[in-house]
Amino acid sequence: MDKIVLVTGATGTIGKELLKQLKEQGVCVKIGIRDLKKAERLDTGNCPVVHFDYEKPQTFKSAFEGVSSLFLVTPMTSRIDELIVPAIDVAKQMGVDHIVSLGSIGSELDNSPLSIAEKCVLSCGIPSTILRPNLLMQNFGNLAGSIIKSSGLLYLPANRSRISFVDARDVAAATASALMDPSHKNHIYTLTGQEALDHYQIAHILSMVSGKTITYIPISHNDAKQQLQEAGWSENDTEIIIGLYEIARKGWCEEVRPDLREILKRDPVSFEQYAWDYRENWS
Ligand SMILES: NC(=O)c1ccc[n+]([C@@H]2O[C@H](COP(=O)([O-])OP(=O)(O)OC[C@H]3O[C@@H](n4cnc5c(N)ncnc54)[C@H](OP(=O)(O)O)[C@@H]3O)[C@@H](O)[C@H]2O)c1
Repeated sequence: MDKIVLVTGATGTIGKELLKQLKEQGVCVKIGIRDLKKAERLDTGNCPVVHFDYEKPQTFKSAFEGVSSLFLVTPMTSRIDELIVPAIDVAKQMGVDHIVSLGSIGSELDNSPLSIAEKCVLSCGIPSTILRPNLLMQNFGNLAGSIIKSSGLLYLPANRSRISFVDARDVAAATASALMDPSHKNHIYTLTGQEALDHYQIAHILSMVSGKTITYIPISHNDAKQQLQEAGWSENDTEIIIGLYEIARKGWCEEVRPDLREILKRDPVSFEQYAWDYRENWS
């Protein structure tokens, strides 16, 4: 029987890309969606869509029915263990035999919701693969694209920190590999890009690609929070990005790791390549 993979977080940046890549590989995917209305805007192909919401335990059983491998995206909330443990318990009862869980770079160094979620997965008794991506390159388009395009300014609370940004397409490719290849069970990988850049270098690359001057303006933690909320970001999404920049300022996001290259057996996408591929965001 074909392996069935449940993709949670399928409407998110990484989940959407993972879904696309698994479908291209002909993998049997079940799509777990919190807000079913969003499925209408998603290219689901012939894959079944199920309701899956950590806040609604009644959605767990039908979501995990027939599933062998689970891609687990955890929401950022201080109640993470309250939400994730019951979901994993049901996954175990329903016979899920591998969890690929998305954490974040530095998860092992703090007590953030993603770090708590990782501990829950590691102690649940189901073989797991933990992926800890660095900040995503796609944040520039998602987070600041419209401001960069209209004003030529890149406001972020990064100071001079250097970050080995990773492309969400590479994180999705590594996730697909972890889901399909059992040799990745019981491994923890930190996924980074091929170079650590500061935001002055990022602004230089975006300027070169867009053909106009883009300037990085370092701002404070609180100003960033205010700006994102004024731009319509939810409190939750704002906290995720602000939290990631907080750890970047501590220098935790600078290291370039070999894990992604080893899994993909090729170089990770460079920031310059990302900037060209998504140039409509800045040009
Ligand atoms: N962005 C980064 O730079 C970065 C870096 C390292 C790690 N991470 C972590 O990697 C993970 C995925 O990142 P991403 O950028 O792809 O996230 P994203 O675009 O914000 O997507 C989050 C996904 O989780 C779903 N979700 C939220 N609350 C849920 C709930 N209660 N029940 C079920 N699903 C729920 C969302 O569904 P809706 O569409 O319904 O909201 C969405 O599909 C997150 O845990 C994030 O913290 C992100």
